[in-house]
Amino acid sequence: MARIVDHPILGKLEDRKAVAFMFDGDTYEALENETIAAALLANGIRTLRVHEESGTPRGFYCNIGHCMECRVTVNEQANIRACLTVVEQDMVIESGRQHPNIVKRMVEKL
Ligand code: FES
Repeated sequence: MARIVDHPILGKLEDRKAVAFMFDGDTYEALENETIAAALLANGIRTLRVHEESGTPRGFYCNIGHCMECRVTVNEQANIRACLTVVEQDMVIESGRQHPNIVKRMVEKL
């Protein structure tokens, strides 16, 4: 996945400093002032979490902070919206996982 570097309306993407961050244990690079959602998409990552009950993959949806579909854990703080949060150097981001108690209840129903 690549970034748009020359947009007909927004203009050229100017040279910006690279910012290193971790997502689920792997190191990636964002561009300075880029949101977590944009940085992950630019790195080919579309799944930000899984649904707490069903385990189905979830990515960003509204990209304006309303739907909460993009929530991730940032530096051990849960439920951070990836579409509104700018990546910072050495930020540690973790995707959302199935809630263990819900998984246990689902298994018990089988
Ligand atoms: S994508 Fe909807 S709140 Fe982030």
